[in-house]
Amino acid sequence: MALLEILKYPHPLLKKRASAVGAADSSIKSLMEDMLETMYHNKGVGLAANQVGVDKRVIVLDAPKVEIDTEIAEGKPEGKEVERVILKLVNPEVAGVSGEIRYEEGCLSLPGITAYVKRDKNMVVKAQDEDGRNVEINASGLISIVLQHEIDHINGILFVDRLSRLRRELILRKFKKAMEAERVL
Ligand code: NI
Repeated sequence: MALLEILKYPHPLLKKRASAVGAADSSIKSLMEDMLETMYHNKGVGLAANQVGVDKRVIVLDAPKVEIDTEIAEGKPEGKEVERVILKLVNPEVAGVSGEIRYEEGCLSLPGITAYVKRDKNMVVKAQDEDGRNVEINASGLISIVLQHEIDHINGILFVDRLSRLRRELILRKFKKAMEAERVL
């Protein structure tokens, strides 16, 4: 396994729709393992292949299975074991959505900034797993949010693109200032 470099905004690959994967083979499996390792290393909950410079419709996620309007809003439930969901998907497509949810999102390609984004509360995703089998996932809450964030990535969409123009410009100005300051220091 290897740690991969995460591309930062405004890298052009983050704005490009990623290419479909033919058949999942061993190179896709090892890409997924490297992506998961890179994601854990950077304390993320999801990652898309184009964020690590690979133009392929591949996403991974590892996030707690929680419903946003209950557990998260009231803080993590004490002592309660939260089930985690790990997904490694090829060519994921949204097959159905319902409901609405708002959550404060961040992104490893835009480190240091967060914003509330409106998402679908429940969704059905069709994809292939790492062995090329067709899978259908019914997701809600945080898993639904992370899936939408990562599917957006492979469609060339960043979470800031989901904000109003005014909020996006404000937040990107803040991000660029922070990146410039980091370079000076
Ligand atoms: Ni992201």
